[in-house]
Amino acid sequence: MAAGRDRVAGKIALVTGAASGIGRAIARMLAEQGATVMVADIQETMALAVVAEIAEEGGSAELVPLDVTDEGQWIAAVDGVLDRHGRLDVLVNNAGVGSRSDGTIEDVTLEGWRAVMAVNAEGVMLGCKHGVRAMKAQGGGSIVNMSSIAGIVGAPQLSAYCASKGAVRMLTKSVALHCARKGYGIRCNSVHPSYTDTPMVDRMINARSDPARMRAALESASPFGRMGAPDDIAGAVLYLASDDSGFVTGAELVVDGGVTAM
Ligand SMILES: NC(=O)c1ccc[n+]([C@@H]2O[C@H](COP(=O)([O-])OP(=O)(O)OC[C@H]3O[C@@H](n4cnc5c(N)ncnc54)[C@H](O)[C@@H]3O)[C@@H](O)[C@H]2O)c1
Repeated sequence: MAAGRDRVAGKIALVTGAASGIGRAIARMLAEQGATVMVADIQETMALAVVAEIAEEGGSAELVPLDVTDEGQWIAAVDGVLDRHGRLDVLVNNAGVGSRSDGTIEDVTLEGWRAVMAVNAEGVMLGCKHGVRAMKAQGGGSIVNMSSIAGIVGAPQLSAYCASKGAVRMLTKSVALHCARKGYGIRCNSVHPSYTDTPMVDRMINARSDPARMRAALESASPFGRMGAPDDIAGAVLYLASDDSGFVTGAELVVDGGVTAM
């Protein structure tokens, strides 16, 4: 856990995909550091459990039911936050889907491609659009978009996932430059994890004929000899959400234990 308890004190934050994995860790860490956190997800029961967990830890959180692919739901979610809290300081576009409907360029179907792009790319675009709308009126804010090392280096079997995460990487820079030129005071950055130990990766490992071997292969792919932990990624998001990163925009923060340094 990060040092201190007030790095985002008083901020209103919305985290998508916050019911599980990396999003859950981000929501808990932002709340631990003083933010009021909107736990946004399509899985409402699991999201409610995260809200309860944060309350037990002495933090402040609320459930925001949200399918990031639906613009009407984004409008309702952001307007609801503005009605209840008067502002939105931090938006973390973390919700994403993995490889089930993906494949190599020879295997991927148009339907599978669109399913991945709808959440990972269009969902982030809609979040940025409505996040900027809310934040510009108040004079600033921080948007953090969850990409992946798959947005920087290719993976042959993940054509749609790589394309979606590359889209997030470049959308982030476009949003950052637009907001800077307009003088909105809004920063926008992307985070690029390598394999991180979450339910998404568990599903991928357990779909293999030899899960233990697959897990060992993912661990040994990193110079650190382990996968990332959700808190490793949450710490990077906390930095970008906080005022410590006040001069950082359009940046790619790689959190990969050295994988892409090789
Ligand atoms: N785990 C990894 O190895 C890894 C590596 C790099 C990047 N990422 C990215 O990190 C993010 C989080 O991944 P994770 O590993 O925690 O996955 P996860 O499956 O554990 O959690 C993803 C969450 O997103 C939610 N979600 C999915 N579709 C949604 C939608 N349409 N609207 C709202 N919420 C939705 C799910 O309900 C779930 O709670 C994703 O964007 C993923 O691509 C993960």
